[in-house]
Amino acid sequence: MASPRGEFSSRFGFLMAAAGSAVGLGNIWGFPTNAASNGGAAFLFAYLLLAFALAYPALMAELIIGRHARANGVTALRTIATGPKSKLFGSVVGGLGIVTVSFILSFYAIVSGWMLAFLLQPIADVAGLEALSDWLTVDGILRNSIFVISFMLLTIFIISAGVKEGIEKWATRLMPSLVLILVLLIGYVFTLPGAMEGLRAYLVPDFTVFAKPGLLVSAMGQAFFSLSLGVGTMLVYGSYISKNENLPVIGSLVALLDVGIAVLAGLLILPAMYVALASGVEIFDAQGGLIAGPGLIISVLPALFDNMGAIGGFVAFAFFALMTIASLTSSISMLEVPVSFVVESQGVRRPAAAMLLGSIIAVISLVIVFNFDLLFEWVVTVTTEMSQPLLGLFFCLFTGWIWNRSAILEEIKQGSPQAASGFFWRVWPFYIRFICPAAIIIVYLQ
Ligand code: TRP
Repeated sequence: MASPRGEFSSRFGFLMAAAGSAVGLGNIWGFPTNAASNGGAAFLFAYLLLAFALAYPALMAELIIGRHARANGVTALRTIATGPKSKLFGSVVGGLGIVTVSFILSFYAIVSGWMLAFLLQPIADVAGLEALSDWLTVDGILRNSIFVISFMLLTIFIISAGVKEGIEKWATRLMPSLVLILVLLIGYVFTLPGAMEGLRAYLVPDFTVFAKPGLLVSAMGQAFFSLSLGVGTMLVYGSYISKNENLPVIGSLVALLDVGIAVLAGLLILPAMYVALASGVEIFDAQGGLIAGPGLIISVLPALFDNMGAIGGFVAFAFFALMTIASLTSSISMLEVPVSFVVESQGVRRPAAAMLLGSIIAVISLVIVFNFDLLFEWVVTVTTEMSQPLLGLFFCLFTGWIWNRSAILEEIKQGSPQAASGFFWRVWPFYIRFICPAAIIIVYLQ
């Protein structure tokens, strides 16, 4: 027997879980440097616009489908399909979503494992375990294997406990801690020499960037990854929302939280980078752009923490706690996609399903760890740049062209009785039918 479906117990619980999924490594190592290199506040403005004009409608499609069907991705898409052909299409899109998100998790867990290793390093330092401390921060197959497995075990542990006792409980603990750590770190970094330079680099707007071809397109891709769209993550979280909730409102809160925390992260990352620069650390790459991605997190910032003296260990610990939390609340949302499917379609018990699927994904991670140069970039590109936007397109087409419009309205009206005459219903159906698919196709062709 499959266990009964879970449900988030409160709006706050859902918001923390969904924002936890959205806020991840991308928000911290991607968004801030991207903004600083591409026009500062001008980029912020464009990103906010894109997030609301294009990513939010796609997010809403997933939330509405999920809450309507109250099921995993495959079953949900089959439920709203109207004939045998669209049912088959639904199975294919849902199934590919499960496969894609599993592969995204397989590389995400490797990087998250690094965060875990760097989190332990200051502790090893304090304990005087010098050799261990070095080993933790030097790239190596053994270290990476141990930490990817540890990180997957944490993810499995939370998902095993279910929606309320696992996802919601941990998200409502971890997300407020994340914001608190972020704010404290910002406060501290602001007192250091060079910080105001960084703030200027981050925020002073340069509107000429809008002439740059490809900028809006890359911002759009980032918004899609950041809101965890296209692979059924938000659909599954949506399926656990109470019928009393006003979907357009909570969807916009999720988008606001995601963008808000990305903007906040910029107030830490850019000042920190310029503080590092002032202390002699290189922060620009060979092309003259700011170093972003893993290099920023595991080389630029640790070099800064090293230069800070005694307090550096605390700051490093707080920073990697922040990174680990951001990773974990995202990874659980990824594992939930295949787990909910196996629990509901095969009747497997949740803990067994979490352990089984988590282990399979961990094995894939290990294969990548052992063939890192060969596989890592490739898996990242195929999943996030090819598969995810394509599936996002299919989700929009499904919602805009296949699913019955009056059924959609009925679903939105639960929790929002006046929806039929509201702004959302006047604009969104058109968006999801025409604008979103067109925008994704443009991104795709790039
Ligand atoms: N949005 C997260 C980030 O910014 C990552 C993430 C979580 C994700 N779930 C996802 C990405 C599903 C793609 C698909 O890091």
